[in-house]
Amino acid sequence: MTIDPNSFYPTGDAAQTAATAAFTDMAGSMQGSRILGIAAQVKGMIAEGVDICNLTVGDFNPKHFPIPESLSTRIDAHVADGQTNYPPADGMLELRKAIAEFYARELGTAFPYQSVVVGSGARPPIFAAYKLFLDPGDTLTYAIPSWNNEYYAHLNQTKVITVETAPEQRFMPTLAQLAPHLRETRVLHLNSPLNPCGTCIEEGALKEICDAVVAENKRRETTGEKSLILLYDMVYWLLTFGEKHVHPIGVCPEIAPYTVYVDAISKAFAGTGLRVGWGVVPPYLQGKFKALIGHMGAWAPRPVQLATADFLQDGEAMGTYLESFRGQIQNRLDTIYNTFNGMKNDGLPVMAIPPQGAIYLSVRCNLIGKTLPDGTVVESNEDVRLYLLHEARVAVVPFRAFGLEGETGWFRMSIGAVSQSDLEAAMARVEAAIRAVC
Ligand SMILES: Cc1ncc(COP(=O)(O)O)c(C=O)c1O
Repeated sequence: MTIDPNSFYPTGDAAQTAATAAFTDMAGSMQGSRILGIAAQVKGMIAEGVDICNLTVGDFNPKHFPIPESLSTRIDAHVADGQTNYPPADGMLELRKAIAEFYARELGTAFPYQSVVVGSGARPPIFAAYKLFLDPGDTLTYAIPSWNNEYYAHLNQTKVITVETAPEQRFMPTLAQLAPHLRETRVLHLNSPLNPCGTCIEEGALKEICDAVVAENKRRETTGEKSLILLYDMVYWLLTFGEKHVHPIGVCPEIAPYTVYVDAISKAFAGTGLRVGWGVVPPYLQGKFKALIGHMGAWAPRPVQLATADFLQDGEAMGTYLESFRGQIQNRLDTIYNTFNGMKNDGLPVMAIPPQGAIYLSVRCNLIGKTLPDGTVVESNEDVRLYLLHEARVAVVPFRAFGLEGETGWFRMSIGAVSQSDLEAAMARVEAAIRAVC
């Protein structure tokens, strides 16, 4: 006889009541990712046969962007070699050493391998940093638009201070914006190259911020207050276009004791599904990261860790891969940028920020007040998004999904899932749709 638990599960309104009764208050008010909500709508339309150019998710289509072949063959080899048991909670020694050497080679930093803590992607070290440095009610400060900070803050019941950035500053925060909040802040979370904007922080701006973080920590050391930690997410740092990647210790070595770097192979080598990321943390803080990642079971798959260690040491294979990968990403971003810039030069109410890094482009379509072909008047970003989706068959994510409220007309376009030719065709449709209403 088959036992059918399904017949006992509450459904409809009863399910809602039962869920409220089961969950904590935190879980009850937890939101799913707004980006993934939009992506799910688009996938539904694609499944129904609508031919949509999907510029929503920060992921790669392996058909267009496969992982490096030598990484793939090494994963297979390590599985065949029986490397299928638990890895150490802070990562395989081979990988931790390879990461320290890789940073020494590429960033000119001599981190001890003991500072490295490996996790299943960049998310576990980010989650761990929130958990380890922020008691409920402590203050996190970050700039918006930004990727996902609010969800981590909510999970952790963290108090949030946001500073709103503008296109003139390439959506990067300045010290002038952050300074009034530093005294109260326990964690300052920065991301460069930036998701969603595809922009990079400037060296001078980062140095000013880092100097202020050091000064604030020196002050706290005299008062016994808890320290101010800089969480620096640089998962896209190998994907920049002519920009020099800048990082806290590179511009202000004294910030080392207070800085946690977050990085991964997810974006740099198109390996979002391989789940290898890491934090580089001061050695005196590393043990708790190790313990927490171990408790979560958020370690990275052992054979993938070993293959990543091999790959990071193979500078030639990495260089060859990155050159081609970066070139293809930049071509796609340039295609979008040139389309929008051309329309802007023709006086249309659109603009785009030149691509600097990551796989995203910030575009503005200020169509509010325009009358659409069906006679309705555009009143919101959502109207613009739906117009582009249905008229141009191009799916984008409004900056609202990254915390920038208001009808700003800004959208993120992400190019990892599309071919160059599909993107060119899509941009022609976007241009036709915009010209039709302007
Ligand atoms: C800025 C940033 N950090 C971290 C992540 C998460 O990376 P992972 O897939 O390695 O967890 C993402 C993913 O989109 C991201 O955009």
